[in-house]
Amino acid sequence: MEISSDQLDVLYSEEALQERILELGKKIEEDYRDKDLHVICVLKGSFLFLADLVRAIRHDRLSVDFLGLSSYGNETKSSGVVRMTQDLTIPIEGKHVLIIEDIIDTGLTMHYLLENLRTRLPKSIEICTLLHKPANTEKPVDMKYIGFTIPNKFVIGYGLDYAECFRNLPYIGVVRQS
Ligand code: IMP
Ligand code: MG
Repeated sequence: MEISSDQLDVLYSEEALQERILELGKKIEEDYRDKDLHVICVLKGSFLFLADLVRAIRHDRLSVDFLGLSSYGNETKSSGVVRMTQDLTIPIEGKHVLIIEDIIDTGLTMHYLLENLRTRLPKSIEICTLLHKPANTEKPVDMKYIGFTIPNKFVIGYGLDYAECFRNLPYIGVVRQS
């Protein structure tokens, strides 16, 4: 399927995203005030969210690392078979880890990631996801911070792709049904 950006309805505008991200940042700032905070960005989808979120957190002992995950499947449906395309560069043993994700849909990707990271003995591990699509839950995961809970629609933009494109949109859009 070919999609063009004029077939998109805006679900969350740039302003709406920034406003919510500021709120999340303040909450995280309060919760981690007395602890070092090690933030892990799940590539590729979370790169814009991470960049805006960490700038909304005032914290002198915040560190950042990246890992890459890719789930096999077609363009709009994840198969639940997850592959790590890039590993962390910093050990997480003994650290307070906060995973930054773009979207949790079935929960299969996050379930895989949590199992993997827990074997590395972090002191604590929490999840911050920009979007949660509860309709397709197969593996429930505990999410401490959720930006928006969304209906069961395929969304793109602000890091989220359709066949690797549209990650550069500054807003989140949903494909108009015609
Ligand atoms: P999961 O189903 O929770 O394992 O989600 C796996 C991955 O599917 C997410 O990290 C996204 O990369 C992708 N995904 C799920 N829903 C959407 C969507 O609506 N738009 C774009 N990507 C999505
Ligand atoms: Mg993702």
